[in-house]
Amino acid sequence: MATGNPHKHREARIVLMGYGLDLRRLDVKRLEIQADTLEEVAAYSVEHLPEAEVRPVVVEDAGLFIHHLRGFPGPYSSYALRTIGLGGVLKLMRDVPNREATFRSVVALRWRGETRLFVGEVEGRIAEEIRGSRGFGYDPIFIPDEGDGRTFGEMDTREKNTLSHRARAFRRLALWLTSP
Ligand code: IMP
Repeated sequence: MATGNPHKHREARIVLMGYGLDLRRLDVKRLEIQADTLEEVAAYSVEHLPEAEVRPVVVEDAGLFIHHLRGFPGPYSSYALRTIGLGGVLKLMRDVPNREATFRSVVALRWRGETRLFVGEVEGRIAEEIRGSRGFGYDPIFIPDEGDGRTFGEMDTREKNTLSHRARAFRRLALWLTSP
């Protein structure tokens, strides 16, 4: 898995371990383009990785789509986090009753000259304030609907993995890899 983010790698590796698959981290700077869909970003990145010529490689691109903001920050999630930060997002959502949001993950696998995409999503809502110090990125402000009201930032990796967009996408990848 080509990623500079060890949290992403840990989450994905735990999922694949459950299917008897090993996932190593390639700590390379992946080529990241700015595009309007996660699919384009993930596919472009994996197709421009020299490593993918010699072994199966995955790249994952994720984004938080806030319904009231018509899907912003979506594919611009890392830019939004670097610029306005969690505080800025909460400010945009101040006094907004509709707090629904979708976290999406697109995993692009490059193997034997072909690219395959696996998508995972989780529905949830934006918290009123920052809660929890676990995880990374938007975890402290995202409350998954199927959980018990805690943010991802208040869960350990295994709990987050029972619900997360990333775990769902990697489970789809694992099922595809292990199906006859
Ligand atoms: P990227 O996939 O690394 O481009 O992620 C886009 C932005 O969303 C980055 O700022 C990440 O920190 C954040 N992000 C990605 N996945 C997650 C997650 O599972 N939880 C919280 N934030 C995430």
